Amino acid sequence: MQITLIGMPGCGKSTVGRQLARRLGIAFIDSDQVIERRIGCSIRFFFDREGEDAFRDIEEAVLDELTAGTTPAVLSTGGGAVLRSANRLRLRDRGRVIYLHAAPEDIYRRLRHDTTRPLLQVQDPLQRLRSLYVQRDPLYRETAHYVIETGRPSVATLVNMVTMQL
Ligand code: S3P
Repeated sequence: MQITLIGMPGCGKSTVGRQLARRLGIAFIDSDQVIERRIGCSIRFFFDREGEDAFRDIEEAVLDELTAGTTPAVLSTGGGAVLRSANRLRLRDRGRVIYLHAAPEDIYRRLRHDTTRPLLQVQDPLQRLRSLYVQRDPLYRETAHYVIETGRPSVATLVNMVTMQL
């Protein structure tokens, strides 16, 4: 079975995904890492040079490939993976999708010193996170089979919560 984690940047997809995969004894795949290997540079550099649309095209192709496999795996996706309807349909059809929900204020606290996320390199990252959240929260909910609240629980508790939904 493929388990796909979706949610805003900084909601814990990679951290929870890695531990979940270890717990289940299956592979862990981070789609952003696959993309970076393919483009041969950081996502931030690629965004600056080629623009967001070019990134979304590669993201769509990579997600299509990664979800086509039948090997059980935990797949952690980039925060914008749900922006294209083709991705939303594929992710939902091809596995169990879990939305790790986090409030923009919590994400801001975790990411305020991060320099790797191109969409947050703006004057007011909290405002940016709030507007991304308003746009994306309905899309994450439409795509997910389950929603998990990430506010307080530890990573181990979150892993337990996801396991209980499988
Ligand atoms: C993006 C989130 C990033 C990465 C890219 C775009 C987004 O992944 O895919 O910078 O649109 O929110 P994370 O969610 O792992 O930060």
